[in-house]
Amino acid sequence: MRIILLGPAGSGKGTQGEMIERHYGFPRISTGDLLRLEVEKDTALGKIVKKIMEAGELVADDIVLEIVRSRIAQPDCKRGYVLDGFPRTLNQAILLEKVDGSRPEIAIEIQVSEEALKQRLAGRLVCLQCGTVYNINNNKLSQCQACGARLTVRNDDRPEVVSQRFRIYRETIGPLIEYYSKKGVLFRIDGEKTPEEVFREVKSVIDSRLN
Ligand code: AP5
Repeated sequence: MRIILLGPAGSGKGTQGEMIERHYGFPRISTGDLLRLEVEKDTALGKIVKKIMEAGELVADDIVLEIVRSRIAQPDCKRGYVLDGFPRTLNQAILLEKVDGSRPEIAIEIQVSEEALKQRLAGRLVCLQCGTVYNINNNKLSQCQACGARLTVRNDDRPEVVSQRFRIYRETIGPLIEYYSKKGVLFRIDGEKTPEEVFREVKSVIDSRLN
């Protein structure tokens, strides 16, 4: 099973991806987290993508595909996996199909208004060590409760970069929705409820396909 989470910046892909991973044991693969790790470690790849990510632009398809391809080849992905932030363009969806096309799949679009998204992103804190996401509106924390590392504000959560990320999402999502809709695997979910309520809907979609 392959579960693809679609949605704009801040819609809760990471939050729901973690909940799916905990409940079903499918590993969450976040291209954003994997790229941020490269930047944090200051690798050759990290140096290439740092400026692109800080500007809220998309990293080149071949770079992101290579990251995903090598991650899904790991043994823990054999049963299935959750993709958070990939594919993001029609081309990425077609490339994914070429490297691992044989699985049943579900694409879940999490829908949230831009007004609500701006508020969420203004309060987001992340753990760069393990990727756990928090919100200062819910938790007044400075350390990650999962691994103890320091929490930080993401570089691309500045309002001007957030607007750019919304713009790119609006420009790229249409063909992706059409692609998964034509395949008959697209589900839309209201992402403005609490994370637990959203997860109940996500779970009912996944269960309907697993059974
Ligand atoms: P990426 O890290 O994937 O960022 P994104 O898609 O913009 O999504 P976010 O991580 O910002 O939000 P989210 O939907 O995961 O929400 P979250 O759960 O954190 O990508 C970053 C960059 O990497 C891109 O801009 C690009 O440069 C590059 N990149 C990555 N993938 C790429 C690709 N495939 N191709 C090319 N480039 C790529 O939640 C947000 C906040 O809201 C949190 O504080 C959370 O606690 C809170 N929250 C979550 N759910 C709820 C809820 N139901 N109610 C209230 N609050 C909630």
